[in-house]
Amino acid sequence: MRPKVSIIGAGNTGSATAIWLAAKDLCDIVLLDNVPGRAQGKAMDLQEAIPILGQSTNVAGTSDFEDTAGSDVVVITAGSPRQPGMSRDDLAQINAAVVRETVEKTVRGSPDTILIVLTNPIDPMAYLAYRASGFPKQRVIGQAGILDSARFQILIARDLGVSVESVDAFMLGGHGDTMVPMVRHSNVCGVPLTDLIPDEKLRSIVDRARNRGTEIVNLLNTSASYAPGAALAAMVESILQNTHRVLPCSAYCEGEFGLHDLYFGVPVQIGREGVERIVELPLNPEEQSALHASAARIRGIVSGLSTFFS
Ligand code: 2OP
Repeated sequence: MRPKVSIIGAGNTGSATAIWLAAKDLCDIVLLDNVPGRAQGKAMDLQEAIPILGQSTNVAGTSDFEDTAGSDVVVITAGSPRQPGMSRDDLAQINAAVVRETVEKTVRGSPDTILIVLTNPIDPMAYLAYRASGFPKQRVIGQAGILDSARFQILIARDLGVSVESVDAFMLGGHGDTMVPMVRHSNVCGVPLTDLIPDEKLRSIVDRARNRGTEIVNLLNTSASYAPGAALAAMVESILQNTHRVLPCSAYCEGEFGLHDLYFGVPVQIGREGVERIVELPLNPEEQSALHASAARIRGIVSGLSTFFS
């Protein structure tokens, strides 16, 4: 029996996630959307690519949550994307209602599933999904750090003229303006980044990486989707294949990095049961301060969503 992964939201990111997952030939896929015909049409289109890919993934589209029942993993991409001029935080109120309803309808048929949340603002939405689902913290994970780190890696690789495969760099913290580049812990084949790129250039790369999402929104009039979808598919793969990869994701902190009762971008070991552990890093005072400032920003957004937690 192939694992079943349901993707809630068949917009750009949900569809991209389905394509990346289908390409990995890991699982059967259910795409759900409340726009009549959207999930059904995209699923039919993707299903017809499967013979061309030479594999046997089943892809179904639906508007009925009952069709997601028994999912091993549920990926939540439903909600509004950003428009030019908007911050991710601006989406909190509108998307909190969507995430709450989605989680309530999802867990009815999949009480043992693992929830992966991408809806923005991701960290508060992951926390809402955790509280609304009543799941253990291990089975609710937010996705942002893989995307932010990939942007950071690409810009470093281009600056140095090296293959991005040689770059090990990552971002932690909230998915937004306060994300924290872990420059001191990043390297190119073991050579510290700070030995390879001058400080001023590194600061410019960090700024550009932080703003790549906004840069894309300004070009497309909507949010990025290909890379977010690839990040979600990487998480699903680590779960279904039980690979125990350590990936930067939004996970529930209970004392890690000095943070409590908060979903936050941290290094997370992911396996078949979801979050296996949060990997803590030695931080200097500047890094600690930046992470805690980012955490404070997330707490501020969460505090404005109290009506959705009752
Ligand atoms: C981004 O940064 C969609 O928030 C996501 O592109």
